[in-house]
Amino acid sequence: MKAIQVGLLGLGTVGTGVVKIVEGHQEDLSNQVGSPISISQILVKDRSKARGVPIDAAKLTEDPWEIVRNPDIDVIVEVMGGITTTKDYILEALERGKHVVTANKDLMALHGQEILAKAREKGCDVLYEASVAGGIPIIRTLVEGFSSDRITKIMGIVNGTTNYILTKMSQEGAAYADVLKEAQDLGYAESDPTSDVEGLDAARKMTILSSLGFRANVSLDDVSARGISGVSQEDIRYAKRLGYEVKLLGIAERQDDMISVSVQPTMIKTGHPIASVNGVFNAVYVHGEAVGETMFYGAGAGELPTATSVVADLVAVIKNMKLGVNGRQAQLPYNVVKLKTDEQ
Ligand code: NDP
Ligand code: HSE
Repeated sequence: MKAIQVGLLGLGTVGTGVVKIVEGHQEDLSNQVGSPISISQILVKDRSKARGVPIDAAKLTEDPWEIVRNPDIDVIVEVMGGITTTKDYILEALERGKHVVTANKDLMALHGQEILAKAREKGCDVLYEASVAGGIPIIRTLVEGFSSDRITKIMGIVNGTTNYILTKMSQEGAAYADVLKEAQDLGYAESDPTSDVEGLDAARKMTILSSLGFRANVSLDDVSARGISGVSQEDIRYAKRLGYEVKLLGIAERQDDMISVSVQPTMIKTGHPIASVNGVFNAVYVHGEAVGETMFYGAGAGELPTATSVVADLVAVIKNMKLGVNGRQAQLPYNVVKLKTDEQ
């Protein structure tokens, strides 16, 4: 049986997890999709670097176009990060009829509409479950699970690095800079961790969640964001004494035709379910008019949890290929409803 050929852009934290899961779960995955899945080419910046999984060196390339323009590749899995040039690779891949799976929230929050429009034009899938809340299947849940409902609020902890830092500062009195370094070493932080600690990563994720959840065109400029770099050990101690934990919270609300989306450090009463979300874990609370309150919890970053979402998207793309229904992915296009934001 002909194998599905995957081109993997990036072999860092997430890319390594993708290789481990595709290889480790190969039998089960191929049973599910009806073909073997082969990662046939892999983009890296430095071919000589030691890797966290055994890799056939012949598969490694430092030239992204070699993969994107390879006619034998069916699906591109983008886990390299970056925005401008990465967008070019993805658009070129779609132009050539390849499907795309990405974990890149920066790209999807800024250029999601353009990328999804190209995908629709070309009859290709673009899936991005791993872009928000790592291993929690929150995008699928919002789009498919709640398609029947009208969501009024999405709130939660959507950045693992800052939650890891705040947890260690609160529970161990650890110093901010030391814990940030730990989060970087564990592969949780972005290549430039400023986007984690200043709230931009969470703002990008809230842009994606609110766009999909409210079926609206929310842009990153609509999201007000403040991070945790100004939160001191003293702030956390003081909050604790009053019976609160400090968490970096994303809050997206819809009231009538008004949407507001923000990210900020917030004091949460000890005992509230969100106050006990610790370490790299994320939690997303969703309120719908019909369903009421729901909450989703799991690892928000890291090699295998994130790769779980990436490979689940890969499986979905391949199933669509077998059915011949690519380009009709469940993830709705943005812009279905245009709602007013606070700023307008
Ligand atoms: P890493 O920095 O660990 O890995 C990036 C990989 O891409 C590396 O293998 C690197 O090569 C390669 N790469 C980057 N730029 C280039 C380039 N210009 N040319 C060739 N190769 C390149 O990143 P992560 O795995 O942590 O993150 C990847 C993506 O997933 C990002 O978009 C991130 O936001 C997202 N994400 C990450 C999560 C996490 O927990 N880490 C969770 C959810 C999403 P080399 O190895 O040679 O340096
Ligand atoms: N840097 C991100 C975080 C990775 O810490 O949440 C997961 O998107």
